[in-house]
Amino acid sequence: MLKRAVVIAGAVLLATAGAATASVGRQDHKLIVGGTLASTTEAPWAIALTNTASARSTGRWCGAALVRADKIITAAHCMIKPASTYTAVQGRRDLTDTSTGRASGIKSIWIHPGYNTTDNRYDFAVLTLSRPMTGVPILPLETNPKADRKGAIPTVYGWGETQGTGPSDTLGKLAVPILGDTTCLANDEYTGNGYAAATNICAGYVDGGRDACQGDSGGPLVLNGRLLGTVSWGKGCAESGYPGVYAQVAVAGKILQAQVR
Ligand code: ARG
Repeated sequence: MLKRAVVIAGAVLLATAGAATASVGRQDHKLIVGGTLASTTEAPWAIALTNTASARSTGRWCGAALVRADKIITAAHCMIKPASTYTAVQGRRDLTDTSTGRASGIKSIWIHPGYNTTDNRYDFAVLTLSRPMTGVPILPLETNPKADRKGAIPTVYGWGETQGTGPSDTLGKLAVPILGDTTCLANDEYTGNGYAAATNICAGYVDGGRDACQGDSGGPLVLNGRLLGTVSWGKGCAESGYPGVYAQVAVAGKILQAQVR
């Protein structure tokens, strides 16, 4: 019985990108929830990943980070469609303004071999761009597994749901304090969904109100100019007691680094 409850919770927790955008979470919708506008100049490596199957007119699907001129890192759980249906968009703060920024198709998709939909760990995918974004500053990967220390305050970027706290499909940012693994491990729903101290980062606000949300998945969590993590999952968005869960880049291994160099 308990097991079943956990399985159901897992299904609710892991709202898949895009399709789930409208249906999951509270409807009292509130850039990233509770964040502020970001410019594409301060975050040139922030990539909006669109998909032709998106329910949104902008195609908004997930976030990603440019880590090499022809490579972006996103979340494995965002990659449920053929490569030809995705577009990587850079330099476009407002996704409705297609006169700005640049776009590339996706040539190939690599999914981290440690990823599975049961424990949701190693939620990483590396996509190869068909048109390299030459000249755009890239975001280096964090390689120190201890960089996720409690109290550090990285910033998350994304075009996802704002639940009424800002314009939609527009690049936002939010400083999210690292709460420490014990906070997420204390939540049975989170352990049931596979939260692991070794591979995840628990960040945000225990009181709720500010968080990454649907459509932000795969987007960058940045600390000291490096890619510390990627947006992975959470129960709803910005709910009190349910902070954001991020996939930790430094523990993804040489196998991820090898994709990027
Ligand atoms: N899974 C969601 C997506 O596909 C985003 C998860 C982040 N949720 C959160 N509450 N921090 O876009």
